[in-house]
Order: sequence, then C-alpha cells, then structure tokens
Amino acid sequence: MRKKIVAGNWKMNKTAQEAFVLATEVAELVKSSVSADVQVIMSTPALYLTGVNQVIEGIPNLAVAAQNCHEKASGAYTGEISAPMLASAGVQYVILGHSERRQYFAETNEQLAAKTDAALANGLTPLFCCGESLETREGADFLGHVAQQLTESLFHLSAEEFSKVVIAYEPIWAIGTGLTASSDQAQEMHAFLRAHIAKKYGQSVADSISILYGGSCNAKNAKELFACPDVDGGLIGGASLVAADFITIATSY
Ligand code: G3P
Repeated sequence: MRKKIVAGNWKMNKTAQEAFVLATEVAELVKSSVSADVQVIMSTPALYLTGVNQVIEGIPNLAVAAQNCHEKASGAYTGEISAPMLASAGVQYVILGHSERRQYFAETNEQLAAKTDAALANGLTPLFCCGESLETREGADFLGHVAQQLTESLFHLSAEEFSKVVIAYEPIWAIGTGLTASSDQAQEMHAFLRAHIAKKYGQSVADSISILYGGSCNAKNAKELFACPDVDGGLIGGASLVAADFITIATSY
C-alpha cells in the first residue's frame, strides 16, 4: 500500500511568530481530523525547522521537511545547509528539485542526483520534484521530458534506495497560477511516470512509490485529484499557508 502524503511547501513565507501560529494550528487539526494513514508534512523555511519540530512533537503523522539541501556534507559554502545538518536537527524529509530552485538557482538533473544521494545517505526522505513548462507541455513530448528528469537524477539509485524516494509531479504552468492540471492530465502523467519507473525497477517497486501532485492544488479540487488511481497526495503551496485549507486537503481522500 502506497503512503498517502500531503506536504505543504511554505516557500519563503511567514515570520517566526506566524510560523509558530500556523504550525500550532496545523498540529491541532492533524490530531483532531486527519486519518493516521495520511502523512502530513510542513516544509518550512530552514530557520523554523527545529522550532516547528518541537511544536509538533508526539504527532506520529506530522513531520517537517526542508526545502533544499546542499550536495556536500560540509565546507566553504556560505549560506548553504547540508543533509547531515538537517538529519542532526531531527528533520526527516527534504524537497529537492523544486522548479523554483531549478529556475532561480540553476539546479541541474546531475546536481539533483548528488543532492538525492546526500539526502538518502543521511536518512532523509527526498520529495523529488519534476514537471514541465507550458512551452514543453504544448510540445510533442512533455511526458518524456518529465520522465527524463527522473532518469537523469534518480535512475542511478539501487531499487532499495529508489524505494525511499517520494516523487512530486508539479507542472510549472500550474504552480501559483490557479491553473490546476485537470485530474485527467495529472493521472496521465502520474501513470506514465509509474510505468517509466516500472521499466527500470519492476512493477513492485513502481507500485510502492508515492507520487504527489502539486500546482494549484486546493481545498476545492483535492478530492478529485486524490481520487485518481496514481495520485497519492499533494505538494501544496499557497493553500498550505492557511491551516484550515491545508487540513481540508489532507482529509480529501
Ligand atoms: O511545491 C508546491 C508548489 O510549487 C505549488 O504551489 O501555490 O500552486 O500550490 P501552489
């Protein structure tokens, strides 16, 4: 049975005080309303990870995620945070390859392969992001383009290592635009990626991988998206900044 996961990507939002309030609200609602078989994750700015971890302590299906990590373990990389640092601070998940990092920080598939290795080597679960631009979507091979992101960044992994990765499909044209992919579009891509994984690692591994949808997923459309056979949850941006909306999504199965 694949894990149901709803992760909130706060991106660069919330003051320290606002972060404490939001985390406290989410924690209360997860305890009272979210099924134990749904893993809820809050990906806060790095500054707040340890504090939010203390707020949510003792809630088995609520965790924090970093929004990135460096591929090196330590060194002269001013401003960066390494996977060992995150693990030492009790962080269990890390978003890798978000389209905004690929766009603004020129992260490549090769660099993301190294980041994935660093995360796995330190016991972190990667939430590995992939997705296509509108230009690519309107082209001939948007399915192949996204599958290639997995091939180049993840297919060096052993089956055991790959089985620890969570995939997040985020069509770039749907991120922050309110233009959500239709459930048919989401299911088409998720099924294609799962088949691509099966070709490399076999059907059993492919069927065990959680593939999340991200891109204007909200309280209104989550139920239809999560009803798709190959959609195992969501990676939520804007809607994760309001506790009630985020939890409505987490209870949309
Ligand atoms: O990582 C999730 C994010 O990119 C989706 O953003 O605001 O479209 O839900 P949003």
